[in-house]
Amino acid sequence: MNKGTCFFPKRFLWGTATSSHQVEGNNTNNNWYIWDQTPGKIIGGATAGLACDWWNGRWKEDLAHAVEDGQNIHRLSIEWSRIEPQPGKWDESALLAYREMLKGILALGLKPMVTLHHFTDPIWIYERGGWENEETAAHFAQYVEKTVGALHDLVDLWVTINEPTVYVFSGYMSGEFPPGKNDAKAAFQVLRNLVRGHACAYHTIHRIQPTAMVGFAKNFRAMAPARKWFLPDRWVNTFSYNSFNNAFADALINGKLKFAMWKDILPEAIATQDFIGVNYYTRDLIKFRLFKPKEIFQERFFDPAAEMSETGFIATEPVGFYESLQWAQRYKLPIYITENGVEDSRDSVRPHYLTTHLFQVWKAIQTGMDIRGYIHWSQVDNFEWERAWTQRFGLWELDVATQKRTRRPSVDIYRDICMSNELPLELIQLHAPELLEPRPR
Ligand code: NOJ
Repeated sequence: MNKGTCFFPKRFLWGTATSSHQVEGNNTNNNWYIWDQTPGKIIGGATAGLACDWWNGRWKEDLAHAVEDGQNIHRLSIEWSRIEPQPGKWDESALLAYREMLKGILALGLKPMVTLHHFTDPIWIYERGGWENEETAAHFAQYVEKTVGALHDLVDLWVTINEPTVYVFSGYMSGEFPPGKNDAKAAFQVLRNLVRGHACAYHTIHRIQPTAMVGFAKNFRAMAPARKWFLPDRWVNTFSYNSFNNAFADALINGKLKFAMWKDILPEAIATQDFIGVNYYTRDLIKFRLFKPKEIFQERFFDPAAEMSETGFIATEPVGFYESLQWAQRYKLPIYITENGVEDSRDSVRPHYLTTHLFQVWKAIQTGMDIRGYIHWSQVDNFEWERAWTQRFGLWELDVATQKRTRRPSVDIYRDICMSNELPLELIQLHAPELLEPRPR
């Protein structure tokens, strides 16, 4: 039998991703700490607490596992509130701690990809209005200057901002993230300042490190009108697709930001990406709903035929992943898959999810797309924002009370793939045999 049907390119990067607040523990100086402490904001009143205890050094254990299991890249983030706990006051010991971590990561043989903003803001930024405040982009640039200045000999792959549109929609439309608003005008203001922040960061990094590769991580949400024949469903779908998927990324190409009824021109943002980072999880169907103005006149739901994740957060929709890569290709830049995964404490859907999604990556590469790596979310269960510990995205299970890590079966599946740089036929036969049928779903 032919063993290696789905070969990946030489030097393809395989890894996992994490973020500071979700794994470090004791991050008590950011907006999510305030959120944690506010009753009713986090499911079950849980807190991030010690998280995965990375700040005390447990990253060594998790990343040693990653390397033993064939990975060669790790995406992590730096916590702004640790580096600049007060305006203009730099904590050199925090920078040193990140230097040590990055040296350790390199010594393990992993390439670091470093995110500079992953949902969290220092409390002093939050208290001054967060990214609604015009001045935040300049403060962010100063933090980036300090951080990149201190770490550029160890990192050459930077993600400025993680999922800016999720930050905006969750914080300023649905209200699940801090500051918990439902205010479209504020949402536009925040999006605009995030574009400005990204642009400042891009130029700052390149001034310090001209050869760096700089991008952002885009959460691409696949979506489709629930009733293709019904014009209003198509309108709300197009509206959401443009505001959610295109607005931020397009502004980094042509400097034009369009969001709902607002527009702006931000020339400093033109051509400020060296790669495009894609985070992909799932796909929605969208229906027009006249009486839901707060939800932008729409109802979103998953295809009832799709396989669902444990908590109903994700529908397995691998074709949407292919769409996300096609979307990314419009920008004519190298593509990194900066996140993809599913919450699944029992590891019952993850093998199928992983296999079917990687098949789409392989297919996209066959069509000539320049995809440089796949980074799975996540290495180990970590603090899942307002859903806290109820969602388990880790390849490894975490016992939050004892900090014990336990291998899930998917570790071995991913290991086989990373080690061989192939999606072996046996894995497809075992976990996604429908892909081998004459007309795969
Ligand atoms: C995307 C976010 O970047 C990450 O922080 C989160 O944990 C995963 N999605 C899963 O929801």
